[in-house]
Amino acid sequence: MSFNQANYVWMSGKLVPWSEANVHVSAHSLHLGSGIFEALRCYETESGPAIFRLDAHLERLWQSASVYEMAIPFTKGQLEDAICETISSNGLSDCYIRILCYYGSGSLGVFPRQCPVEVTILAWTLGTYIGSDALKRGAAVTISSWVKFHSQMMPTTAKASGQYLNSLLALREALDRGCDEALLLDLHGNIAEGSGENLFIVRDGILKTNDDRSSILMGITRDAVIRIAGDLGYEVEVGELSLEELLASDEAFFTGTAAEVTPIREVDGKSLGRSVPGPITAQLQEFYFAAISGKDSRYKDWLRFLDRSQAGYSHSHRV
Ligand SMILES: Cc1ncc(COP(=O)(O)O)c(C=O)c1O
Repeated sequence: MSFNQANYVWMSGKLVPWSEANVHVSAHSLHLGSGIFEALRCYETESGPAIFRLDAHLERLWQSASVYEMAIPFTKGQLEDAICETISSNGLSDCYIRILCYYGSGSLGVFPRQCPVEVTILAWTLGTYIGSDALKRGAAVTISSWVKFHSQMMPTTAKASGQYLNSLLALREALDRGCDEALLLDLHGNIAEGSGENLFIVRDGILKTNDDRSSILMGITRDAVIRIAGDLGYEVEVGELSLEELLASDEAFFTGTAAEVTPIREVDGKSLGRSVPGPITAQLQEFYFAAISGKDSRYKDWLRFLDRSQAGYSHSHRV
């Protein structure tokens, strides 16, 4: 995920040039991972750029803030406008967006006393996340020796910066093993999720995924795929996923904002199914891409269209 640098970054109320979007080294969140964040994508559609499921992402940001008792000093409406402004001022359409709420400089004890809550929004162009051809050829995954933390250790349904050290360890191990991605088991030995994705399997035409009882982040893409699969007439079971079930599956795939719908080709060298992507995965991919690009009117509510006539597309510099 290297940067295609954009021109501007939104920092607590104003756009600043990318090269000047700096934070003091005493910022609390830099030391203790106390930030919360969201990752979204904006896609080009026939009616202009549209952010996918902006409402759901802002809702989850507020949930994460609530768990960590962080007071976001903006309203959802203000952040919605700020996201649109960040995309448009950079003249972007297809892009990836990060909103980060973090504690700035004030003190460095564990409790962020006197640390202001800062909010920043980055947008930049990002292609595929798990390897350039994984969407077509599928990802090779490994079962991590790192276990996904349980919700009694940290809230798995919140998206907080420090929580991702668990994912980092798992992904580093996966890359060391020559794989594209890791799958983490939960404390009970069932499958939890990837380092940044949820998992679905397909067996005998039925889809199955797990939920927060298996220590996962409740993905917004997961939710979209459950709805799309239902609309296509597929049954979707939600329950614990065992490693055995994964290895015996006909198809398996990841879902996530960055990974979109990425088929899984093999698990620790064992191939899954007869073809990659399997037929149901391929169909879901097709309908997911139709939804995000505004081609399927059933899912128009998921899109927040940007007004092309707005500020930045004409490159007025708002620094
Ligand atoms: C740990 C983890 N699980 C699942 C997901 C998928 O969530 P979403 O579909 O909302 O991007 C992500 C990505 O944000 C993640 O980081």
